[in-house]
Amino acid sequence: MKFFLDTADVGELREAAASGLVDGVTTNPSLIAKTGRKLNDVVREIVDIVDGPISVETISTDAPGMIKEGLEFVKIHKNIVVKAPLTREGLKATKALASEGAKVNVTLCFSALQALLAAKAGAAYISPFVGRLDDVGQDGMVLIRDICLIYQNYDFNTEVLAASLRHPIHVLEAAKAGAHVGTLPYKVFQQLYDHPLTDIGLAKFLSDWKKVPSA
Ligand code: E4P
Repeated sequence: MKFFLDTADVGELREAAASGLVDGVTTNPSLIAKTGRKLNDVVREIVDIVDGPISVETISTDAPGMIKEGLEFVKIHKNIVVKAPLTREGLKATKALASEGAKVNVTLCFSALQALLAAKAGAAYISPFVGRLDDVGQDGMVLIRDICLIYQNYDFNTEVLAASLRHPIHVLEAAKAGAHVGTLPYKVFQQLYDHPLTDIGLAKFLSDWKKVPSA
């Protein structure tokens, strides 16, 4: 499973990327807004930190607008992936951008049939939002499993990018389902390292080691 960081905060991205385990980045308009910075400034900094796919989201609601924005984004750096919403216009834009050679991450996916449409439109990634489905009382992980199955049935190249992952169990279940990518908030990425028995075990080994006579 590839790990993307779901952030526009270059400070936390730098820290997480130092692990060598961050394969890419996803941003969205809300994450960019939180930085208080201009989109292009943030994106130019991100592409220098992580050498992998960097999703940047369009804000137009019509296909021509999304295509225009997307073609501008991909000029910034070869690793830019255009993020477009799963709407009728978004999928028109996906098809057009894919035919121009741009990679598209279709976002705001909440049903397996939407994901089927996105794959047919030529999306490089589909982003099903697990946590937001859980929030409204639907099991978000069922969506990940259904999409993985459908994509396998038809041998689509579209990668399943499990998004809106809120805790480590989401990551575990998405990995078990076979999602190609999980995009993680910084906090969840850090949580993956931790287990109390690791800390207790290490403390015991180090204290026992003090009893070993030195040569
Ligand atoms: C994915 O690309 C989205 O940016 C993100 O995962 C949304 O997560 P949220 O539902 O926690 O805002």
